[in-house]
Amino acid sequence: MAHVLYIKANSRDNSATYTVSDAFVESYKEANPEDTVEVLDLYEAGVDFIRGDVMSGEGDTSVYMQHAQKFASVDKYLIAAPMWNFSFPAIFKAYIDYVVMHGVTFEFTSTGAVGLLADKGKKALLISASGGNYATPEMAPLDFRLPYLKAVFGFMGITEVDAVYVYGTMQSASKDSAVETALTDAKEKASNW
Ligand SMILES: Cc1cc2nc3c(=O)[nH]c(=O)nc-3n(C[C@H](O)[C@H](O)[C@H](O)COP(=O)(O)O)c2cc1C
Repeated sequence: MAHVLYIKANSRDNSATYTVSDAFVESYKEANPEDTVEVLDLYEAGVDFIRGDVMSGEGDTSVYMQHAQKFASVDKYLIAAPMWNFSFPAIFKAYIDYVVMHGVTFEFTSTGAVGLLADKGKKALLISASGGNYATPEMAPLDFRLPYLKAVFGFMGITEVDAVYVYGTMQSASKDSAVETALTDAKEKASNW
């Protein structure tokens, strides 16, 4: 029985990202009725920029610690975050700053940094819409979403990181078909994730 953390990082309700991620969750629950899915809406949770010097433990770090411990305790991460300015909404980066926590998700050793979430079968899936189409060779280098996610999750020891994209929501001719394609992709992934 796996516990999924469904991390939502969009300020919009009318969201192509959420259309696909909610459909993914529905299909996932059908395929895995024993598993549990916990929603973490970063806006509702009041995730904010880190204040104080967390490196020296100055200030109240208990909120960051709670998020980091929750993050460390789950099996799977479903991240629903649109593309904003070639990567993610800032609130998602703020959340990452909470959970990349020394002693909880990584630690420093004599040989360097070690991810504490490695070898536990944890995995992540990103679902993300973008206004443009980043699948082409010209546009792909501008897409920092998956490279960033792989780097930071890899730092914590989670190396299985995949993505479902909704490309071209601002290109009216392709929006509906982009959502349809992503829905098919998401539902397929949900049955064996
Ligand atoms: C602040 C902001 C920044 C954006 N930056 C980009 C961008 O860099 N590239 C892009 O293709 N679309 C960009 N967009 C468009 C969104 O990616 C697009 O509207 C997408 O559908 C948003 O996902 P959603 O429908 O789930 O809200 C941006 C939108 C906003 C609001």
